Amino acid sequence: MARTWEQAWGEALYGEGGFYRRAEGPAGHFATSAQGPAADLLATTLLELARRESLTTIIDVACGRGELLSSLASQADPSIRLVGVDIVERPDRLPARVEWRRSPGGAEVPDLGSPMDALVLAHEWLDVVPCPVAQADGQGRLRTVLVGDDGAETLGDLLPGPDRDWSDKHWPGPHAPGDRVEAGRTRDAAFAALIDRVGSGLVAAVDYGHLRDSRPPLGTLVGFAAGSVCLPVPDGSCDITAHVAMDSLGADELHTQGDLLRDLGLDGTRPPLELARTDPARYLAALSSASQAAALTGSGPGGFVWALRRVR
Ligand SMILES: C[S@@+](CC[C@H](N)C(=O)[O-])C[C@H]1O[C@@H](n2cnc3c(N)ncnc32)[C@H](O)[C@@H]1O
Repeated sequence: MARTWEQAWGEALYGEGGFYRRAEGPAGHFATSAQGPAADLLATTLLELARRESLTTIIDVACGRGELLSSLASQADPSIRLVGVDIVERPDRLPARVEWRRSPGGAEVPDLGSPMDALVLAHEWLDVVPCPVAQADGQGRLRTVLVGDDGAETLGDLLPGPDRDWSDKHWPGPHAPGDRVEAGRTRDAAFAALIDRVGSGLVAAVDYGHLRDSRPPLGTLVGFAAGSVCLPVPDGSCDITAHVAMDSLGADELHTQGDLLRDLGLDGTRPPLELARTDPARYLAALSSASQAAALTGSGPGGFVWALRRVR
């Protein structure tokens, strides 16, 4: 049965038997900065951000199985409250000090108790919030793309009002026949819902995204499974993701990850070779830290966009 991408995508990731309900979690299929070898260093920089902003609670929304929270728990002063939010039950191996909230998934956010002085991170969340996908027909008019359970697409009706308004404002034409638009209305609403759940602090959505002057004309919708890119088939067998229009979210500030983390003190400079001779253990530790810093700030993750919004 053909459904809109928004419907089929939501069911495929968060429905019963959905991709993100699988036991192996996201880390079983792909590496991110929050659960790979660089997670410890990302945790260090988050703690520095919390210190600079005088924030005493860190909430990781869409935290997978809590990998980044485990790194945070091993480094953070006991006075820092740590909370994880994802769609599954509390993972067994999560450190005891980490609290857990279960979420419905997609654009919905559970009650977080209006935390005060909170740093709320949503790392690679919005790209998996389903959004309508539209394609320009022979006359350049945007039509909703429908998808079958096998991934086969057809063009449906003209894109309805709210999504057309969003596209006119944030991803305007003219659109050549075949051009695509991933209408970010649902991501904007999800980010706004997250901000509403916070009493005070800083909300950071971190994702691969685009800005108005660099929208990808053919869209970015893609699948991921077992470490590889694949066709997006909405049957629960793969992740389904599309880049985020970061400048439509209503953030106070947008920064590339490279710039932000360097400002927080991350340094990818290799240690002097001389150190290898005088203190081999320190040299190896510094080299490992430099290579993780380079992984977080270099090409790829370094180009991720951090959308920051202060809640007062
Ligand atoms: C791409 S993974 C990112 C995981 C982790 N943040 C990282 O960067 O490694 C997306 C995660 O978002 C979770 N997710 C999606 N919608 C959510 C929601 N509304 N609330 C909480 N978690 C959500 C999924 O279950 C999945 O674990």
